[in-house]
Amino acid sequence: MLIEIPEVLSSQTLQQCRDLLACAPWADGLITAGTQSAQVKNNWQLPEQTQQCQALRSIISDALSQNALFLSAALPKRIFPPLFNRYEGEHNTFGNHIDNAVRHCTLSGQRVRTDLSATVFLSDPDSYEGGELVIEDTYGQHAVKLAAGDMVLYPGSSLHRVEPVTRGARLASFFWIESMVRETERRRLLFEMDMAILELRNTQGDCTPAINLTGCYHNLLRMWADV
Ligand code: NI
Repeated sequence: MLIEIPEVLSSQTLQQCRDLLACAPWADGLITAGTQSAQVKNNWQLPEQTQQCQALRSIISDALSQNALFLSAALPKRIFPPLFNRYEGEHNTFGNHIDNAVRHCTLSGQRVRTDLSATVFLSDPDSYEGGELVIEDTYGQHAVKLAAGDMVLYPGSSLHRVEPVTRGARLASFFWIESMVRETERRRLLFEMDMAILELRNTQGDCTPAINLTGCYHNLLRMWADV
């Protein structure tokens, strides 16, 4: 399941990110690639130890922690500290690959199982040509190119690629989430239930069915969550 989450970053926060990225010391994207993805990865990436990366990480992490839709969809247990990439010029594409199942954060020493992959788009889609994130799932291919500040969440098990950027530059943040609910289908069910309860409460108030369904949601989460 692909979930698009609009306006994860406000326009003010987005500008802060862009200012930091404008003076960032970019490196070859191969710094975090596995041996297989290294053969198809051709982009720029911000080294983790840089001051800009640290500042950008806390901006994205703060935004995520305040986003109810993200928290409901991902049910995060651990979030890999966000990384940042740029597709431009000759370093402009990333061919088909599946992300590594477990990521090791070199700074904290923590391991994160990649139940979900996330991309936050940082460039205005009109400012570059190409650069669609193409994700394959059981329902076929989806080309994703969102407004700056919007995010897409998709199962970490998905085959995906970034199409060549043929004009301009595509900047994005990408990271992975280990969820309290490991199975995609269970997580999807909980998310759909949460959204339906929200709508019920908004239209009917905290009526008895809404209270009972909220109880069912939490009892399912209790049954399935690994914390
Ligand atoms: Ni990937």
